[in-house]
Amino acid sequence: MTDQYREISGQFSQARKDDVTLFLETPSVQSVLGDNAGANAIDYACGTGHYSRLLKLLDAREALGVDRSPAMIDAARQEESANSLGVTYKVADAAAMDVFGSFDLATAVFLFNYAEEEQTLGRMFESVAANLKDDGRLVAVVPNPDFINNRDDLRSYGYVLETIGKGPSSLRVRMSFVGAEKFAIEFTQWSRRAYEDALQRARFADIVWTPFAVSREGLARYGQAFWDAILGNPKSVVLSARKKPA
Ligand SMILES: C[S@@+](CC[C@H](N)C(=O)[O-])C[C@H]1O[C@@H](n2cnc3c(N)ncnc32)[C@H](O)[C@@H]1O
Repeated sequence: MTDQYREISGQFSQARKDDVTLFLETPSVQSVLGDNAGANAIDYACGTGHYSRLLKLLDAREALGVDRSPAMIDAARQEESANSLGVTYKVADAAAMDVFGSFDLATAVFLFNYAEEEQTLGRMFESVAANLKDDGRLVAVVPNPDFINNRDDLRSYGYVLETIGKGPSSLRVRMSFVGAEKFAIEFTQWSRRAYEDALQRARFADIVWTPFAVSREGLARYGQAFWDAILGNPKSVVLSARKKPA
């Protein structure tokens, strides 16, 4: 499987400072995370460390970021040495990964959409379960299964998404960043059923889908009308679940 992020870790890191990340996605994840004081956390597909660092800022005792891309892990480590929070990073493929610990909390922001087959999706959830203690929580962000591609309504936020393929339980999507940072990535938009079946097979319960909500700062800065298009056709959603005891 090719590393789409090998050449774009710098552009990706800049794109993670956009309005949608800051005022919509991050506060939505944060409100599902709630209180993490003292948690031992693993951040799957950590990329350049946006959420690994947030976990530490939200008082996680330990935060381990894992990502398949050595270039993304290098960028995350550079940020950690420039501005240390005590996050550790490892290069690892979530679909074929060792057990690194018995964590209270796993985050996975845009990991599962890189599984191209349902078997791989299943292996990713099994890896998360193997790394969580009983009753440990998974908080993920995934492409919204109901997102309508091939419309131009997210261009003003800096994105264009188009369907480039179709499977029985998924769409293949190309997302082009058309704001200050210009690059494109491809991923799988899985159905709700595919996620829920894979979660249940990996022994997760209490599956909750939480729509994004704009932060108070985002509303104060831009007003409600600015956010209407992305709230009307949200491209991502928070998916959380709890690992059932054996
Ligand atoms: C869109 S980025 C998200 C990065 C980070 N979670 C964030 O929100 O800023 C997706 C990341 O998933 C990583 N990734 C894709 N497939 C993976 C896999 N099988 N195992 C681990 N990481 C993977 C990529 O290398 C990339 O860094």
